[in-house]
Amino acid sequence: MKRFAREFQTPRSGACCSIIHPMSRTGRHFLQIPGPTNIPDRVLRAIGQPIIDHRGAEFAKLAKEVLEGLRSIFQTNSSVVIYPSSGTGAWEAALVNTLSPGDRVLLFETGHFSQLWGQLAQKMGFPVEYVPGSWRAGAAAGELESRLKGDKGHVTKAVLVVHNETSTGVTSGIAELRRAINRAGHPALLMVDAISSLGAIEYHHDEWGVDVTIAASQKGLMIPPGLSLNAISEKALSANKTAKMPRSYWDWQGMLKTSETGFFPYTPATNLIYGLREALQMIREEGLANIFRRHHRHGRAVRAAVSEWGLEIVCSAPQEYSNTVTAVFTPEGHDADQLRATILEHFDMSLGAGLGKLAGKLSGIEMGMRFANVPHKEGGVLAALRCLGPAGKITEDPSSTQ
Ligand SMILES: Cc1ncc(COP(=O)(O)O)c(C=O)c1O
Repeated sequence: MKRFAREFQTPRSGACCSIIHPMSRTGRHFLQIPGPTNIPDRVLRAIGQPIIDHRGAEFAKLAKEVLEGLRSIFQTNSSVVIYPSSGTGAWEAALVNTLSPGDRVLLFETGHFSQLWGQLAQKMGFPVEYVPGSWRAGAAAGELESRLKGDKGHVTKAVLVVHNETSTGVTSGIAELRRAINRAGHPALLMVDAISSLGAIEYHHDEWGVDVTIAASQKGLMIPPGLSLNAISEKALSANKTAKMPRSYWDWQGMLKTSETGFFPYTPATNLIYGLREALQMIREEGLANIFRRHHRHGRAVRAAVSEWGLEIVCSAPQEYSNTVTAVFTPEGHDADQLRATILEHFDMSLGAGLGKLAGKLSGIEMGMRFANVPHKEGGVLAALRCLGPAGKITEDPSSTQ
């Protein structure tokens, strides 16, 4: 069992049958947090190669190859740029490249990360229309449509949505949100944070009509933190031409030339780009559709375990269950951080912490619950195993992958 509360998994594990001695701290630590994810050895080895001249022909070939590969992960024919930054940088880049001072943005409250994105937008002087949410459901298309219909003067310039809220394990339906914008006949740009979904949960930048997708290296792309990405539609590129926000480091114009020249406007994170090339190769070998199916299957198994334990999943709508992160409430009176500490101490396994208003309320794993005296029913692991069944066989499932 390798996936628990707020845990993101992506590389296929080659060690699912090993028996680990409790109390032992030898061997590899089980990192089961929702990112940074475990890095496959192949990727680590690629990152360890000697650095090359980022102004030389070999680097240019590498950069062009990686940018081309990323397009297939975003499922776009449009432009992709790579920043040497964490995901937060790509949030900022999306805004400064398309908006002008004082432009209003509409953002759905889905959880901790929507809150952080909103704070960032506010600090930059953008008025934020924050659509309240319960942290247990995704962005509501009906609500979006009626708000945009009410915005007769088209004051709202961008709609911001976190596709997969890592803090709650809720995945919003992006295609439906795009349809809502179209039904309202509103010209706002659609910006989507796919930081914890890209390369793991079905995502279609072009087909879903997303204008800017924001992503980062440390989750589904299986490389360390340090790279962030924007995928950019033609409409966003046009907005960039008139956007008046001051920008320099984040300016798309310098970055966009990289797909033709292979050279970045400043020093790129060369070794992370080696890692990215290897990760993209691994994704090609497994096949994006198979990767989505794998996460779907493992997500189901985790949910089966949680339900057997009699615990409550944070996401309240099965069609919005995340296939990469399952956030779970600990029973009243039992502190999730204490449970996480017990699991770390006895099983050398790190689980994701509850973030923001869910802090202290999210939890983990069967043996740890027993050690920590957290009330639960037994049999969750068996339920998960039953659910996994023979590899590749997925039986009917109430949860959707959009
Ligand atoms: C959905 C989501 N958005 C944004 C971020 C922030 O990214 P970073 O911490 O890489 O700046 C995270 C980080 O986990 C995230 O999960």
